[in-house]
Order: sequence, then structure tokens, then C-alpha cells
Amino acid sequence: MMTKDLSPMDKAKFVAARRAVDFIESGMTIGLGTGSTAAWMVRCLGERMREEGLRIRGVPTSVRTARLAREAGIEVITLDEARWLDLTIDGTDEFDAGFSLIKGGGGALLHEKIVATASDRMIVIADVSKQVETLGAFPLPVEVIPFGWQTTRALIEETLVSMDVLGRETALRLDGDKPFVTDEGNRIIDLHLKRIGNPRRLSLVLNQIPGVVENGLFIDICDAVVTGYGDGRVEVRDIAEGLVEEGRIEIPEGDNLFSDLSD
Ligand code: 5RP
Repeated sequence: MMTKDLSPMDKAKFVAARRAVDFIESGMTIGLGTGSTAAWMVRCLGERMREEGLRIRGVPTSVRTARLAREAGIEVITLDEARWLDLTIDGTDEFDAGFSLIKGGGGALLHEKIVATASDRMIVIADVSKQVETLGAFPLPVEVIPFGWQTTRALIEETLVSMDVLGRETALRLDGDKPFVTDEGNRIIDLHLKRIGNPRRLSLVLNQIPGVVENGLFIDICDAVVTGYGDGRVEVRDIAEGLVEEGRIEIPEGDNLFSDLSD
């Protein structure tokens, strides 16, 4: 992939990912997120390890990130082997001013939430389009077990009636003409809520429903957001300190950035 082939959004994702890997130090165990932005991060980390000889162990949040991490030369271990992580870096579908997130567009929300929660720190990497005033324009993914999933879906819909949301449509996520299956063998129901008035309450209530494994709202998990722009600008915001850095990452022109861009 040559730099000139990258869209402004890809450039924004790349610069956010590139800046975030600077927070990684040799000896750390890192949670590796899932999605196209996280895929840039894995490649950038592999590059830093090759160039600087960093020793890093990675806990991937999906089967596809595990494959990518191995290709990038990162030692892959399980969460049970790691037990606790220094840092997780992952993408997001939306983030608000309080760093509440909607995640799960790529279907990996369960492993992502477990890994991020087991980390001292979570850094989210995002192009600026992911920044929202109120969560909910992006459909909220809810992972449910296959047994009785239609009953679980009906219970979710009933629950939404008493929630502060604008829309109540739900949809079983498909992969072609079959249900999408998560790495845990579960299904995903996407909730088209348009606006979520109280994400914390919604998250708690959804997780009370039998059959629901987890939902894509990440509350009080993210510590910092690295936001990338298509022109190479990058901002680092910390939950405690606010805007801590505005900078720019030069994207090497005409370079053969990375050979594999399948994610
Ligand atoms: C996967 C996720 C991703 O982080 C989210 O969907 C963002 O993906 P991308 O970086 O491709 O925009 O939550 O479950």
C-alpha cells in the first residue's frame, strides 16, 4: 500500500495509531484491539519492535488481531497467561467528552471489554469522525448467546421502552445471509437507538437480561484518546488532564507503508 492510496480517514487512523504506540515501553504486556485502526497500531508496534528491539507481549482481542500480531512479529499470549496488562490500545465506533464509548462494530466487544478492563490503562485511537456529543448514532452492539436469542431480543426491546433513547429498532447482525458469529460462538443484536440519554444506566440494565453476555458501552474504562486527522494532525487527551498534546505525524510519502492491509 502506497501512501498516495490512503484515504484521509485511513491517514487519520494511521496517525492516531502511530502516535499511540509511542506510549508503549519495552517489557510491557499490551492488549491489542480489533478493527482497522487497531490493525494500524499492530503494524506500527511491529515496526517499532523491529527498529528499536522492544520486547513486547501482546494479548489480542480477536482471532484476526492474533493473526496480524504474529505476522508483525509480536509475541502473542493469552489473557490467562498475562493475567494483568500494562496497557490496551483499541479503536472505537464512538467516543464522547467523558470518554464513554460504543464499541463492537467489528464484533469483538466481549474480548475487548475483558482485556481493556484487565489493563492498567486503556488508550483509544480514533479518527475525528468517531467523536460525538451524545452516544447512540452508531448502533449499539449487544452480544447474546444463541440459545433462545429471539426471546432475548424481545426482552431487550421490552427493556428499551423504559430507557432514555430515541430509537428502538433492533437487528440481528448478519454475515452475508447467515447470522454473524463472534469469537465466542455468540450472536450480535445491533440496537438502533439514535441517542442514548443515560449510557451508564442502559449498560447496567442490558447486562441484567438473561441471554445477554455483554454490550458495547464502555464506561469508565478509557483513560486517554488519541484523535487523528486526515492532514496528519494528532491530539492526545487524557481523562484527568484534558488536552495534553497537539502534534503532527509525517506520513512517509510514496513509501511502501505496510504490505498487508486486509483488516
Ligand atoms: C471492534 C471495535 C472497533 O474498535 C471499532 O469497530 C472501530 O473499528 P475501526 O477502527 O475499523 O473503525 O470495537 O469490535
